[in-house]
Amino acid sequence: MAVLTLGIESSCDETACAVIEDGRIVRSSIIASQADFHSQYGGVVPELASRMHVEAIVPCITEAMKQAGVGYKDLDAVCVTKGPGLVGALLVGVSAAKALCEVENLPLVGVNHMAGHIAANYLTDPSWEPPFLCLVVSGGHSEILLVKDYSDMEYICSTRDDAAGEAFDKIARVIGLGYPGGPKMDKASQGGDPNAYAFPAPKIQDSLDFSFSGIKTAALNLINQTRLKGEEVRVNDFAASYQDAVCSILCDRLAKAVKQTNLRKICLAGGVSANSCLRGKITELAKKQRCELCLPKMAYCTDNAAMIASAGYYDYLKGIRDGMDMNAYPSLEM
Ligand code: KG4
Ligand code: ZN
Repeated sequence: MAVLTLGIESSCDETACAVIEDGRIVRSSIIASQADFHSQYGGVVPELASRMHVEAIVPCITEAMKQAGVGYKDLDAVCVTKGPGLVGALLVGVSAAKALCEVENLPLVGVNHMAGHIAANYLTDPSWEPPFLCLVVSGGHSEILLVKDYSDMEYICSTRDDAAGEAFDKIARVIGLGYPGGPKMDKASQGGDPNAYAFPAPKIQDSLDFSFSGIKTAALNLINQTRLKGEEVRVNDFAASYQDAVCSILCDRLAKAVKQTNLRKICLAGGVSANSCLRGKITELAKKQRCELCLPKMAYCTDNAAMIASAGYYDYLKGIRDGMDMNAYPSLEM
């Protein structure tokens, strides 16, 4: 009998619900994004995000169930993001999941949002299995993880300052591209010259850790100096050069992690894994170092609930359950 998991995700500005079969087959995936609404403020306003989740959560669950063609009695577990993320936003999904489990007498599985992002690879390639290295790059995270098993992971390195997504979002805002900056910078860079502007490489020698503060400061200085001269930066060239520099840092670290671990199986996870330049560079790296590669489908790169239902499925199989005392954990670690 197929195992059906319902996934619920509300950690930031997407209310998402999905039904997944056996951890890999997407029966439905509904995403109600608030991104357009928050763009007028230049970023996510947490309190407004929570209120919008409250309005969207029940219609989202209902639609996911309807599109999957299943009833609550057919479900085997409810998997919900319990952290990390915005506490008020997380609480909406967690409360909905707990209520559903209580009423329908279903097991509750709390899922780490970042483990969810990694599971996007299981939804993309049916034969993709641990162990592998995963470059996790989102709005709040940048790290390389050694995924030993579905729920056993080890940090190889992480960022010492900003996350990759933040590095994109902040500079995109300064050059007038708006929020969310990552996808807008990706688009603006099309046709731009990646060698038009030069950015310094990070100086960390003693570890594989990332740092984006140097490159961000260099970008801000370049923009200011150009404006002081009464000129504007050429947006397409600037976006292409900056994006290339950020992706080179990420790729360089992943190449070193492959050498260090001698594990020739790599994948990406998180919103920034949708970036065309990063996907291109990682594909080249995989060829050069003869690595097996998985690039998550675009639909599962940014926040969604299918990935949560997939990650939760593997915890469910292991007998991992949460009780009704489960909370939302804004700073949850892997
Ligand atoms: O994983 P995600 O949807 O949410 C978090 O868990 O943080 O990631 C959002 C981040 C944002 O910083 C956004 O700008 C970035 O992913 N992002 C991109 C692209 N699409 C989304 N960054 C670069 N290029 C993209 N195409
Ligand atoms: Zn995310």
